[in-house]
Amino acid sequence: MAVRRLNPEQPTTFEFTPENLSWAEAKIKDYPDGKQASAVIPLLWRAQEQHDNWLPEPALRVVAEMLDMPLIRVYEVATFYTMFQLAPVGKKAHIQVCGTTPCMLRGSGDLIAACKKRIAATPHTLSGDGNFSWEEVECLGSCANAPMVQVSKDTYEDLTPDLFDKLLDGLDAGQPPKPGSQTGRTASCPSGGLTTLKNGPVRWNEASNDMVPANVVDQEAAVATSGNADKNPAGKAAKTSSATDGTSGSLEKPANLLDAPRGGTGDDLKRISGVGPKLERTLNALGIFHYDQIAKWAADEIAWVDDNLTFKGRIARDDWMSQAKTLAAGRETDFAKRVDAGDVDSSKDE
Ligand code: FES
Repeated sequence: MAVRRLNPEQPTTFEFTPENLSWAEAKIKDYPDGKQASAVIPLLWRAQEQHDNWLPEPALRVVAEMLDMPLIRVYEVATFYTMFQLAPVGKKAHIQVCGTTPCMLRGSGDLIAACKKRIAATPHTLSGDGNFSWEEVECLGSCANAPMVQVSKDTYEDLTPDLFDKLLDGLDAGQPPKPGSQTGRTASCPSGGLTTLKNGPVRWNEASNDMVPANVVDQEAAVATSGNADKNPAGKAAKTSSATDGTSGSLEKPANLLDAPRGGTGDDLKRISGVGPKLERTLNALGIFHYDQIAKWAADEIAWVDDNLTFKGRIARDDWMSQAKTLAAGRETDFAKRVDAGDVDSSKDE
């Protein structure tokens, strides 16, 4: 990390706006007598936000006076934390690229190369239009989603050069993507789908007096609220119709059933753990051919399909929903890879 110094060109004064001043005075009162210095970071951050997202030297003096701190202590804080910018930054965004080992191993070098190409050849330098600037920083705490960048308070993770380009385009257009993983995974879940806890979270089920997968509880709740609770205790929904007549009483026939697979070819549903050749034929007979159909089912639709299978509860037990969502998004699950490699006997056609 480069040495952090104050910008050589500084304004002569800094004053909090009346609104920010009253906010700062209230913030100082959050701390006990004699501990007001603890407000240094929030006050510096507010000053930075007020001053085009960088901290001028007079702001450090104002904060030191307000907190009755030696000026050097405020300098130490401002120059230590990379959340504080000590020189003008891009009007639209200042990109902080994590260059620490996990991000470096996962491609942060490509992101830095893109910054040099699209923004400026050197860090802490404004782009030609003044809209962007960048710097390399140390670990920002999202290592499991490396490589990543931070823009103000937001982090953008799981980046590739293409995704980073899209992020810069979005920031330039004033429509940045949603912060977090840019590949769509939840937090730092495995990128190829779950490898453990495949049945998802569990909850206490009063009816069966046991811990069961949460989506089973949800199915039961959907059935119960639809007035069929007496017929469907403890997730054992009574079959109320045939697979084909669509009159499953309070269970909801999925709206996305098809007469035939789109384009004449369905997805290989046997790539979903829990679906073998026989069950795939049953699903096809119900009008289910594609991963995205399964991925979109609501709880009452799951209950309807479950009601039409001979072995109840397997949708929840094998967590078809998560698997189908992953496969429908074009990503792979470990199970699907094993099927493709011919390692799963139960998925082979009889
Ligand atoms: S190494 Fe990049 S966020 Fe930790």
